[in-house]
Amino acid sequence: MKYVMGIDLGTSGVKAILVDENGKVCCEASKPYRLIQDKPGYCEQNPEDWVEQTIAAMKELMTRQPVQRLHVEGISFSGQMHGLVLLDEFRQVLRPAILWNDTRTTAQCTTITEKLRDRLQKITKNHALEGFTLPKLLWVKEHEPDIDQKIDMFLLPKDYVRFRLTGAIHTDYSDAAGTLLLDISGQTWSQEICQAFDISLHICPPLVSSETEVGTLLPQVAREIGIKDTKVFAGGADNACGAIGAGILSSGHTLCSIGTSGVILSYEENHNRELQGNLHLFHHAKKDAFYTMGVTLSAGYSLDWTKSLLAPNESFKELLDGVADVAPGANGLLFTPYLVGERTPYADSIIRGSLIGLDSRHERVHIVRAVLEGITFSLNESMALFRQAGKEIDTIVSIGGGARSKTWLQMQADIFQTEVIQLENEQGPALGAAMLAAVGCGWYQSLEACADQFIHQAAVFAPNQQHVDVYDHLFRLYQSIYTSTRDIHAGLEPYRSI
Ligand code: XUL
Repeated sequence: MKYVMGIDLGTSGVKAILVDENGKVCCEASKPYRLIQDKPGYCEQNPEDWVEQTIAAMKELMTRQPVQRLHVEGISFSGQMHGLVLLDEFRQVLRPAILWNDTRTTAQCTTITEKLRDRLQKITKNHALEGFTLPKLLWVKEHEPDIDQKIDMFLLPKDYVRFRLTGAIHTDYSDAAGTLLLDISGQTWSQEICQAFDISLHICPPLVSSETEVGTLLPQVAREIGIKDTKVFAGGADNACGAIGAGILSSGHTLCSIGTSGVILSYEENHNRELQGNLHLFHHAKKDAFYTMGVTLSAGYSLDWTKSLLAPNESFKELLDGVADVAPGANGLLFTPYLVGERTPYADSIIRGSLIGLDSRHERVHIVRAVLEGITFSLNESMALFRQAGKEIDTIVSIGGGARSKTWLQMQADIFQTEVIQLENEQGPALGAAMLAAVGCGWYQSLEACADQFIHQAAVFAPNQQHVDVYDHLFRLYQSIYTSTRDIHAGLEPYRSI
């Protein structure tokens, strides 16, 4: 039997899985790392933590019995998107990485929009949003000129980890698309955008496609982890890899993925779709394919936050106990998950969350149900934009935190008004990374052939018409919260000190 390893460098931690050639996940290991949130809107991580914990997770996989003696033929990566890692000429990290959910760059986004006007959409197919990489580069230029002078290369998070494991520097198109520096049609770094902001093209890493073999593990890393003669493949952005791992490989397929962020993502054959309301259009990690996507910044993060406040010593299962017995509407409570601002449909770094309708008879379980509903309503705003753009969505594959609870899966079906598919033994983006390695190793002719073998449906949740009607009404109330609270949150901003 042959094996591949898939590694997903997430925001709360890294996950490594070992998969055999039949698609059976034999073993998994996860390791956490910390977020650095020194100021309101700031969100950073230490790239060294990623490297240490990735090696620790790989090592843990390889020391478990009976994995010890197995031959791992290939490894590939998935990673949190957009994060800015800066290296000097000696390949030393210049400052902590600025992450996708850091919203300090509103002013830089305005500059980009004003300077490039319609050229930005034409070249990158996207709007300037705080989470993307270019605004972060401009922020460093403006606020940390000493560091800016030393920049010799920028990398995205998984590309930095892969570099430390292999010594080779690359990025792939699915991650490069999230930088706002990629010419999507030309499949090159945009000279025009680099020139407009005085960015040297040579700080942009070489581009490869996701299934490209980029090298092998450095001897000391291979020894430490306990593997040898393993091919390393480039891999892709976490949402692209999540889509591969869920079989989103042709038109008409749509994904709901809930990690720290939450996304609604839909496959596109080409990059011609006109997008409204801050939807994104990026390269897929499948060659020559694309996807459109809306992003809720704090999806799983809102539930983590709720747990840390209300049930720090309980499991998620215990936190969700009783939620199924509360009727849709959480007993008159509405939650908006804008804990760090929002991306889709409102790109807004000032807005914050609300819990509306609190009553002295409310209990913890009502708040937990309202949080699940609020996260799902937020994702439904992206669904609404897709539908406005003419996409017909009647089925959605759900992965991540939202796929681990039957109550939440049913809630998705009722709020999205689609059938919701749960997968067997779902592994999220790590499985997509493993599939890229499996295809790269030549086990399968295509990702589609690999998906036939690796991905299986477990259950389908159909909308319940009574709940659909209730949620339809509640969704409209939910949507009114943004405009009704925008000014209040702006007024509160000067009082935020953490
Ligand atoms: C996508 C985005 C997030 C991160 C999470 O645009 O910012 O989904 O990729 O890891």
